[in-house]
Amino acid sequence: MNSVSLVGFLDQLVRDLTPRLERAVEEPSHRYTPELREALRYTLLAGGKRIRPAVIELWAGDDADRESVADAQVAVELIHTASLILDDLPSMDDAHLRRGRPACHRVFGVDTAILAATALLARGFEYLGGIDARRPEVQATVMFAHAVGLEGMIGGQHVDLRLEAERRDFDSLEYIHRHKTGALFEACGRLGCRLSRAPSQTVSAREEVARVYSRNLGLAFQIKDDLLDATGHADEMGKDARQDRGKPTFVSVLGQKASVEIMERLLATARESLHHADRADPLLGELCDYVMARTK
Ligand code: IPE
Ligand code: IPE
Ligand code: MG
Ligand code: MG
Ligand code: MG
Repeated sequence: MNSVSLVGFLDQLVRDLTPRLERAVEEPSHRYTPELREALRYTLLAGGKRIRPAVIELWAGDDADRESVADAQVAVELIHTASLILDDLPSMDDAHLRRGRPACHRVFGVDTAILAATALLARGFEYLGGIDARRPEVQATVMFAHAVGLEGMIGGQHVDLRLEAERRDFDSLEYIHRHKTGALFEACGRLGCRLSRAPSQTVSAREEVARVYSRNLGLAFQIKDDLLDATGHADEMGKDARQDRGKPTFVSVLGQKASVEIMERLLATARESLHHADRADPLLGELCDYVMARTK
C-alpha cells in the first residue's frame, strides 16, 4: 500500500516536471547548429526516475514557494543529466546505452555531447540563480556550485577514474560515492528545506536532519547502482550492465553481501534521522524502501 502512494507521487512529479524540462531547453532553433539543441533534449527528455527532484519536493513540504520548488527541480535534473552525458563519454565510462537510448555521444558525437552537457550545466545554474534572485537568503547557487564542483560531484568522478587498484578500500570508496553522487542528493534535501516558508530557526534545524538523511540516502543509492550493475538487466535499467569491471565499486571491492549490508545500514540511518525532524513527509521513509528495492 505504501509503495503505491510513493509510485503515485513519482508519477505525478514526472507529469508536472516534464513540460517544465521541455521549456527549459526550448529555444528558437539555431540557424546553424540545430543539433546542439537536439542533443540537449535527447538525454534530458528520455526519461529518468527523477529521484533528486522528489527529494527536493518532499523536504520542501506543502507550505513551500511552489515556483522555486519547480525551478529547483528543473535545475537539478539539468545538472544531473549533464553529469550522465559526461559520465558516458568514451574517455570516462564508455557507455553505449543511457535512459533506454544510445548514449548522447553515440548519436551526436563526442564534441557535441561535451558541449550539450556544459550547456545543460549552465542552464541548471541559471534556474538556481532565478531562485536566489527572488529569495536571496536561499543561496541555492553557491550550495549547488559546491556540490557539483571540485569538492563535490566532479571531484568524486575524477577519483572514480583515477584511484589505483591497491588503494581501493571502504574509505576511498565512501569518498568517491559521497562526492560523485551523495553531494547532489545532500544539496537537494537541504535546498528543499530552505524553500519552505517556516521560520529560519526551524528551517536550519530541519536542514540539518535533511543533510543526514540525504547524504545517507545518496550513498545508499550509489551502492545500489553498483549492485544493479552486477546483477541487473540492461533492458530494464536502460543502461549498460556489467559496465563496472575494473572500476572502484562497493561490489568489486567488498562483494555483494557486504554491499547489501552497508546499503541497508545507511538506509536505516536515513530512516532513523527522520524522527529528529519537526516534520517529515512519510514518503521520505518510503523513498528509502524504494532505493533498496529498485530494479532500475
Ligand atoms: C544514475 O542516476 C547515476 C548515478 C548517480 C547512480 P539515476 O539512477 O538517478 O539515473 P536516472 O536519472 O534515473 O536516469
Ligand atoms: C556515475 O556513477 C555518477 C555520476 C554520473 C555523477 P556511475 O558511472 O556508476 O553511473 P551509471 O551507472 O553510469 O549511471
Ligand atoms: Mg561512472
Ligand atoms: Mg557510468
Ligand atoms: Mg553505475
